[in-house]
Amino acid sequence: MTDNPAKIRISALERQSLNDAMAHAAKVSQARIGFALSGLSGDLPDAMLYAVTGGKALRAFLALETARLHGINPVSAVGAAAAIECIHAYSLVHDDLPCMDDDELRRGQPTVHKQWDEATAVLAGDGLQALAFELLVQAECAPRAKLNLLMSLSHAAGVRGMVGGQSADIAAETAQLPLDLEDITALQASKTGALISWAALVGPRMAEAEREPLSLYGEALGLAFQIADDLLDHFGDPTIVGKAVGKDAAAGKATFVSLLGPDGAKSRANELVEQACDALSPYGDDAETLKEAARFVIARNH
Ligand code: IPE
Ligand code: IPE
Ligand code: MG
Ligand code: MG
Ligand code: MG
Repeated sequence: MTDNPAKIRISALERQSLNDAMAHAAKVSQARIGFALSGLSGDLPDAMLYAVTGGKALRAFLALETARLHGINPVSAVGAAAAIECIHAYSLVHDDLPCMDDDELRRGQPTVHKQWDEATAVLAGDGLQALAFELLVQAECAPRAKLNLLMSLSHAAGVRGMVGGQSADIAAETAQLPLDLEDITALQASKTGALISWAALVGPRMAEAEREPLSLYGEALGLAFQIADDLLDHFGDPTIVGKAVGKDAAAGKATFVSLLGPDGAKSRANELVEQACDALSPYGDDAETLKEAARFVIARNH
């Protein structure tokens, strides 16, 4: 996959259906990463490309769609979409390692450490993290907006965001006291919410516009997304989900499902989706695909 994404025709600023917009986001973000890795050969670049292939590309979609909503040419936002997919893929490669969730299946395929080995998986994650910032530097926007994107991505990915949340997730397995709703909300907001929120703020950050509506949308969407993931772990069919299920309860993970029960978790997810959609009211009908995405996040079966 070595197409130069600048040469991929991207339909301009018209709203697309969710399916088309997500398929498009997957295609252009993967093409951008493939282009960045072109000319390299060997296990490491192969593993990096493998890790960014086959997912739903929800975060790339959010980046491109919120850019479109702010009148930004999608070609200018591809670097940001590819960057967030790199960080997400790296988080999954490391999450699957034996020292973390010890998983063998991801997106219906062997996990990176199973397909290659642990050292390759650690390094592929490291390489994807560094590549994310390289790609983000190439997003086309004003220097101040770019610095803001870079700084906020380092927060979202780091100890105040995804990495901090992953650490809390592991610590919760052996915590003396069970986590309460506030603790679990904070844990999931950082573990999963931070990257989703960052993706939803690409548009206003690139346009240096008001962030409040999409900040509220991203926060609610991120929590709803992780609740749906936890429900899939509880009820999902592994052949459709594409990863092992039933692992959270077995590992004693702190989730909304473990605290509220499946029905309580489902109604919390529904409330969050409503909140996410309400937050989009300033954008009117032009935000319909983002609303569709919020509804998809809790209705999905993979
Ligand atoms: C899975 O994320 C990991 C979580 C943050 C819960 P996705 O469900 O978005 O994974 P892919 O990229 O589509 O495989
Ligand atoms: C991991 O959450 C979220 C990350 C930050 C990688 P999970 O451990 O629940 O994700 P899955 O279920 O393995 O995709
Ligand atoms: Mg995990
Ligand atoms: Mg996991
Ligand atoms: Mg999970």
